[in-house]
Amino acid sequence: MAATTARPSVVPKKDLESFQEHLNKSTRILALLGAGLSASSGLPTFRGAGGLWRTHDATSLATPEAFGRDPGLVWQFYSYRRHMALGVKPNPAHYALAELARKKNFLTLSQNVDGLSPRARHPADKLKLLHGSLFDVKCSDFFCDYLEKNNYTDPIVPTLAIPTDESDPTTNSALAARELDISDENVAIPELDYDHLPKCPKCKRGLLRPGVVWFNERLPSDVLEDVDTWMDEDDIDLIMVIGTSAKVYPAAGYVDIARRKGARVAVINMDKGDAPASGLYSRDWFFEGDAAQIVPELLKSVIGETNTEELSDAAQ
Ligand code: OAD
Repeated sequence: MAATTARPSVVPKKDLESFQEHLNKSTRILALLGAGLSASSGLPTFRGAGGLWRTHDATSLATPEAFGRDPGLVWQFYSYRRHMALGVKPNPAHYALAELARKKNFLTLSQNVDGLSPRARHPADKLKLLHGSLFDVKCSDFFCDYLEKNNYTDPIVPTLAIPTDESDPTTNSALAARELDISDENVAIPELDYDHLPKCPKCKRGLLRPGVVWFNERLPSDVLEDVDTWMDEDDIDLIMVIGTSAKVYPAAGYVDIARRKGARVAVINMDKGDAPASGLYSRDWFFEGDAAQIVPELLKSVIGETNTEELSDAAQ
């Protein structure tokens, strides 16, 4: 019989007990997720180290203006992000949140576009992707409504393949080919024009674009309506604010809305300075550290142990 080793606690006992006591009796729970949730899966956050893609601030490429100016550059940035996201796995926190959604009236608002919560089989009707998904593509032409969901083709068109280093002496087979890190400034980015980029199969005119919400764009109205309907149904007992700097609106505004509806706030973040703008009250919690470790521990009183080895990745 294999010995079971109890996982060491990463949360102070007193805080864990008071949180779980509240969680157990909570009937309506909300979560706001950010890039820190996927950090330990291996994806960079926006405002921390790794928030630069080559010399570009990641947020400067996430605008309709940037796409209008240089769609080839923006597509290469998103193609790289799709490739990276497909190369990593959901972590125990993604699975634990998915399990909580199966056990409680729990709505998750995610700012993440990386596809990891869907791949952890988070029930789709309880997961609201406020900022869209890297794996949705839509037509950039204003008059065309083409939208394709869950397109995992990598690269989406051959011209967006991550270049491999043909001059590398170890490159003597396709397998050994070293993928060049196109986030490295020294690797030339090919200039890609209209002819090289994915086109809309419906109108045959517009370029396809990533189905994410860019700065200066509205959040998807169907998603916002669903969230408002859930929020308006009743009071809210708890909001967990996980791995987000909670600085980008309207997403960050849900923390205050939940608080006005009675919610106690639990922040899970690596950085003590990243509390929501309205601050924390004495009845709230701040759990400092890696969400991948803390979230499963916090939710254990409702969902039991999270054993990721037994859980499947929906992308496989
Ligand atoms: P940010 O990069 O602003 O914040 C990431 C947060 O995660 C920070 O507060 C970190 O301290 C925290 N963090 C890092 N590693 C962590 C870990 N292992 N465990 C727990 N916390 C950790 O990312 P977001 O808040 O997601 O929008 O950014 C919000 C939005 O701004 C994004 O959706 C994106 C971005 O620009 C658009 O693209 C529209």
